[in-house]
Amino acid sequence: MKTVENNPSSLILLFGATGDLAKRKLYPSLYNLFKKGHLSDRFAVIGVARRLKDDEEFRNWVKDSVETYGEEIDHLNEFISHFYYQSHDVTESESYKQLKTLVDELDHTYQLQGNRIFYLAMSPEFFGTVAEHLKEDGLTDTKGFKRLVIEKPFGHNLESAIKLNKRIRNSFKEEEVYRIDHYLGKEMVQNIEVIRFANAVFEPLWNNRYISNIQITSSETLGVEERARYYDKSGAIRDMVQNHMLQMVALLAMEPPIRLTTKEIRSEKVKVLRALRPIEDHEVHNYFVRGQYGEGTINGISVPAYREEPNVPHDSNTETFVAGKFLIDNFRWAGVPFYIRTGKRMEKKSTNIIVQFKDIPMNLYYKNGSSLNPNLLVIHVQPEEGITLHLNVKKTGEVMETTPVTLNFSTKNIDGINTPEAYEKLLFDCLRGDATNFTHWDEVALSWRFVDKISEAWANEKADFPNYSAGSMGPKCADELLERDGFFWWPVHF
Ligand code: BG6
Repeated sequence: MKTVENNPSSLILLFGATGDLAKRKLYPSLYNLFKKGHLSDRFAVIGVARRLKDDEEFRNWVKDSVETYGEEIDHLNEFISHFYYQSHDVTESESYKQLKTLVDELDHTYQLQGNRIFYLAMSPEFFGTVAEHLKEDGLTDTKGFKRLVIEKPFGHNLESAIKLNKRIRNSFKEEEVYRIDHYLGKEMVQNIEVIRFANAVFEPLWNNRYISNIQITSSETLGVEERARYYDKSGAIRDMVQNHMLQMVALLAMEPPIRLTTKEIRSEKVKVLRALRPIEDHEVHNYFVRGQYGEGTINGISVPAYREEPNVPHDSNTETFVAGKFLIDNFRWAGVPFYIRTGKRMEKKSTNIIVQFKDIPMNLYYKNGSSLNPNLLVIHVQPEEGITLHLNVKKTGEVMETTPVTLNFSTKNIDGINTPEAYEKLLFDCLRGDATNFTHWDEVALSWRFVDKISEAWANEKADFPNYSAGSMGPKCADELLERDGFFWWPVHF
């Protein structure tokens, strides 16, 4: 079992305290942990940001965030009394020295035993600078634990990720670095491991003898919103595939770990990433296709094309959609394609995984050209959470004919409540020192190595964009990718 600490005292230094992520996700998540008694009384949060604020103003900011995005508000004043504010210039040593004075003071007041979490929820260009200053200016010099939580993107490609990692590792050991991939905090993504390794009916079939292909779709209805400056340099391949999609592939494909420890689980995921068949420049188009949305209609509302969005260049070559095929060259998966697709401004907000089993060797119920439906295991990641198993049974009545049926499990039906937000679980894991659901450097590096080939090939070739309408399920080339292999995308609301 994992060795985790229970509710240790801790100081959380939140860089980017006035940012969108902190407001929408982090404060409500901390509040939920507080409400559930998962935060020790001995905790304090220092909000660090540039905008000038005093403690009072900051506490009101946090309060407003919890009231806006949280649920069932109670004891809020007690919660916010643990919050402090430090206005800060990330490039100035003087700022870090002032911060250290406050850290020492709170350490004493709340008896925090020197435990510190540095959470970087800020512009990625400063990740390295902050990590270096934390060490140079004495903030990492502590008797307690020190952990660095770092948001994506972790670099822009392998080269920049290596540089960033070096700067971070001068101040923190690998086991002290918690690289966030919020998909790893999602209930049903965490459930992949349990569905696979706790069920005798699945694991023996989980290989190339019985599975024909696996499809992972993560579609969004939102466009680029106000993030064009970041997104136009990133595109869907860096924004979604390098991290979230590849992490789901790794969890679906990994071997059972010998133990459920952070080290063993991560090491199995790393093996999958090492087994991904590398793609050469000239064959990228056989494996990966891209799209960019044109104007269209979503839920009855007209929306503009990507190139018409604020801050997007009118001739942008950035992809807002990717579909691709991964092949995993090992004994278990040789010959089984893992298809992924993800995009913005699609028909529906949905993430799901469909495992398609091979047809049985002979259809005894064949009549008038009728075929049996393949067995499918659908893992609904969001918005529904649960699994559906598609089977064939006898049609009720005299004739011996088949009909498809589904067996459903939905977490909502069982728990009657929403499962905790991904961020809540990840923050709790970090407080307890459990890094399993964070990405190890080896995973980041291998993912970039794979993805770089694709983005380099695409950077050298102008695409014929836009090639899908907003509100659709992506460009035609995504369907053709599967058709070439004799498959098709199963509908997402399946
Ligand atoms: C983020 C991406 O990592 O994931 C966003 O930067 C994307 O562009 C988001 O919208 C999707 O997350 P979720 O949890 O809504 O599927």
